[in-house]
Formats: sequence, structure tokens, C-alpha cells
Amino acid sequence: MTTRCFVIGHPVAHSRSPLIHGGWLAEHRLDGSYERIDVAPDALAGFVARVRAGDFAGGNVTVPHKQAVLPLLDQIGDAALAIGAVNTLWREGGRLHGDNTDAAGFLAHLEERAPRWRDTVGCALVLGAGGAARAVCHGLRTRGVGRVILANRGRERADEVAAAFGAPVEARDWDDRHGLVAVADLIVNTTSLGMKGQPPLDLDLSALRPGTIVDDIVYVPLRTDLLAAAERRGGVPVDGLGMLLHQAVPGFARWFGVTPVVTPALRARLEADILQG
Ligand code: ATR
Repeated sequence: MTTRCFVIGHPVAHSRSPLIHGGWLAEHRLDGSYERIDVAPDALAGFVARVRAGDFAGGNVTVPHKQAVLPLLDQIGDAALAIGAVNTLWREGGRLHGDNTDAAGFLAHLEERAPRWRDTVGCALVLGAGGAARAVCHGLRTRGVGRVILANRGRERADEVAAAFGAPVEARDWDDRHGLVAVADLIVNTTSLGMKGQPPLDLDLSALRPGTIVDDIVYVPLRTDLLAAAERRGGVPVDGLGMLLHQAVPGFARWFGVTPVVTPALRARLEADILQG
């Protein structure tokens, strides 16, 4: 019987997850499907009941359901509890499980692009305070990074994240970000700034130390102005596409029983799709 999986969101047409999972299904010749399903907020509980009943093996959850789905689950993983959002569901022993794989995806890609990052990163500067920032903070905390400075346009939101995580996460004013560039060994943009259709991220990199890792989770465009500027100053650029690809690995492994690999060919397919617009 075909193993059916999904990505639910509202809207969901923009999701590139079907390209990733569809690529792995074909590569491994599995009898499975991965469908985009638009689920409006008032239909979420009904859809989750169908998953629990066995209509699907599991799937991904995107905006606006990542927090709303939490009370509908039987078991919630540690990462999802820490981040406060779920992006992956699966059935196990008749129970519905949920977890968040964004932190794992962020770390896997960082390790791929900067394999020695743990030896050099004592202090990280994270820009933004949304769900992506929480995933990055969780990831950095699990790897024992000593200091994670969070700067967000709305200071209150940064304070909330810092309070929820505690040490090593601390909040600072958005205007402080330029001065923090010199003390950071890793800078992560988790805001939507720099994304196609958005203003660029205004960050003065004149004090960037060569070798500083600059990770932009934006992946449309692939090479943001931030990454280009960082590279010109001797920084190590890490793009956002790898996080998207790697966060998909644990879900696929749960649903289909095969741990897939993020190959250059799969990445190239996603890059081509992004370039097409
Ligand atoms: P996600 O869950 O994907 O991280 P989000 O919750 O919408 O998305 O968060 C978007 C982030 O981009 C926020 O940190 C937001 O700052 P605010 O909390 O102050 O809204 C940030 N952001 C969006 N537009 C911005 C802008 N023009 N200048 C600075 N930060 C901006």
C-alpha cells in the first residue's frame, strides 16, 4: 500500500518540500507519495484526526499551523518543546508524534559548510526573534555555544526568547547589531530581510573579522547581499537552502524507513527551481 505523506499550510502552494521528498521517493524507488494540502485553520483539528486514524503516515506542518498543532498531538519531542513549534508529524504505535527538525537542519548544514565551526565559535549573533530564531538558538544551545546574542527589531520579542531559553541566550537592542559584528564568530540572519521582495538587511560589516561565519537562512535569492558582502570581507558564507534540505531528512526517515542523503544533484534541482522564480 502506498505510504502517503503531506505538507499542510495555508497557503501551501509555495512549499518546496514536495520537490525534496519527491526526489528522494524516486531515488529510492519507494511506493510513497508526498502531497501539498491546503488546510485552513478551522480545518486543522479535523485533518489531524485523519492522520491519527491512519490516512497518512505523517507529514510536514508549515505556517500558520506550527504552534496550533501542538495541543492536538499525543507526544511532543524535546526540540519542538524548546522551540515552541512543530514542523514534522508521524504515527508511531497508534499515537501521533510531533517534533521540530529546523534546529537539526540548521546544524547539519552549518557542519557541512564549516566543519570546524565548534572549535571557533564562542559567541554567536542571531538577528530576528521568530520561529526560525528560536530553532537556531536551540541548535546553538544544544552544541554548547557559550554566548548567543539575540537582536530583534522589536526588543520585547527578543526578551521573550531570551527569557524562555535562559543562558546562553541574551537579548540586545536592534540598533546594537552593527557594534556586535566585531565580537561575533558566527552571525545568523533569521529575519525576512534580504528575501526577494523585502528590503536588504542593513548590517555594517566593516568590523567583520576574516573567518567569521555568516549564515543567512534566506534562500530566495540563494546568494543574498549579506552573504556577498560577508565573502568580500573574508567571511565564510553559509546559505539558507541547506537548512531547508537538511530539515527534511528526519521526517523522510520516519515515514519511509530510509535515511536520505542531501546530494549535490538534489540541491541543484532546488537551485534551478528557485532561479525559475
Ligand atoms: P519566522 O517564524 O519564519 O522566523 P517571523 O515570526 O515572521 O518568521 O519573524 C520574522 C522576523 O523578521 C522577526 O524577527 C521580525 O522582527 P519583529 O519581531 O520586530 O517583527 C523580522 N523582521 C521582519 N521585517 C523586518 C524589518 N523590516 N526590519 C527588521 N526586522 C524585520
